[in-house]
Amino acid sequence: MNLTIEEIQELQNKMDNKLPLEAMKKLFSMLPEGFSPQLILPMLSDAAKGISENASVEEIVKTVSGKMRKASAPPENPAADSKRIVRDYFDTLLVEMRLMDSVEPSTEAEFFGCKFSSPIMNAALSHLGTFHPDWDGPMEKYAEAALKANVLHWVGMIENDQFEQIMKIGAKTVRIVKPYKDEDKIISQLEQAGELGAVAVGMDIDHTFTKTGNIDVVIGEEMAVKSSWQLLEYSKIAKLPFVIKGVLSVHDAVKCAEIGASAIVVSHHGGRIPYAAAPVQVLPDIIREVGSLMTIIVDCGIESGYDAYKAMALGADGVSVGTHLIPVIQNGTADDVADRISEMTAELKGMMAYTGVKDCSSFDPSVIHRRYETSYRNYYSRIFVESSGCSLSIILTLLPPLHSE
Ligand SMILES: Cc1cc2nc3c(=O)[nH]c(=O)nc-3n(C[C@H](O)[C@H](O)[C@H](O)COP(=O)(O)O)c2cc1C
Repeated sequence: MNLTIEEIQELQNKMDNKLPLEAMKKLFSMLPEGFSPQLILPMLSDAAKGISENASVEEIVKTVSGKMRKASAPPENPAADSKRIVRDYFDTLLVEMRLMDSVEPSTEAEFFGCKFSSPIMNAALSHLGTFHPDWDGPMEKYAEAALKANVLHWVGMIENDQFEQIMKIGAKTVRIVKPYKDEDKIISQLEQAGELGAVAVGMDIDHTFTKTGNIDVVIGEEMAVKSSWQLLEYSKIAKLPFVIKGVLSVHDAVKCAEIGASAIVVSHHGGRIPYAAAPVQVLPDIIREVGSLMTIIVDCGIESGYDAYKAMALGADGVSVGTHLIPVIQNGTADDVADRISEMTAELKGMMAYTGVKDCSSFDPSVIHRRYETSYRNYYSRIFVESSGCSLSIILTLLPPLHSE
């Protein structure tokens, strides 16, 4: 990354843990073009912690670049990859058929007093321009897609002026405010959501810490830990249904219920920690404890209406989809995004029809069966195929048969 001395000096001034200019120059020259230095800065600051004042430029560069590499690399052990864990878990869930006396199902769903065509909704995303920089108003088009597919639309981290533009599209929207350190910013975003007619607001409590346990800085904005009473205060200020996003335990779900949250999103935000339990795995326990008290939405790794079905069968009131839509957002139009959401709804409807589920209030967890070792079977067969060039069919025949619970 080519930066002028003045630009590097400006970045240096913004750092909590200042590094010598010479070391900064070398570190930035090692980074590829195309990254925003502002985005890299918090990571750099973090990596610069604890560096000795007497360290040479070479020692600083070696230590800091090593720490940054480690912080940004995915877990080396694929078994720790929380996204993979979600996929594997979904794939262990199988569905029985119930066709006697079945009817054509309805996928209509209601959230926060509004009716939608589907319990599938688009997840709280932000910074969509990063994926499609020359796309005119990607966040607006994401909202347009939700409006066209008649699903609930969620918005993540966003400034008030951009949120105002998005709300002009007319999609029924939930605004998820970040746990900013700046309380005034939180309050102004909550209040604006109400003024502009959002159907609910909330906070993603799973974006407070970095993976190394420090308070996170997201696009230059410092986050803060929020206590239960603070969340309660926010819900009162908002005067709208309040959603807590990033709940992955009965422990937290019960606390959300105690402060009167209207809904929770059972989620780990696409892998905030390694070895995270799949949201859909924790879901049945959460439903048992608080399912009758709040709306329960699930996200992470939903890639089809079949995944949506499994989450709904296990007790979710709705599911949201983010990453799966991103390639469509990158390469397509708002219509294409809406079409994919509608296709997923059709997949969900198909599975509802075949399992005797007539509407979104009639799901039954007893249709779900579990099989084990699917992932290992796929994982090892892939490794064997890649390393030995053997035919996949031969390896699958050699592997032990699958068994169900
Ligand atoms: C590009 C991108 C931006 C996101 N921004 C936010 C955000 O600002 N606020 C939030 O609560 N979640 C945000 N998320 C997390 C998603 O809402 C969701 O919890 C997560 O991606 C898991 O769902 P998925 O596997 O369907 O993507 C973001 C996800 C992505 C991929």
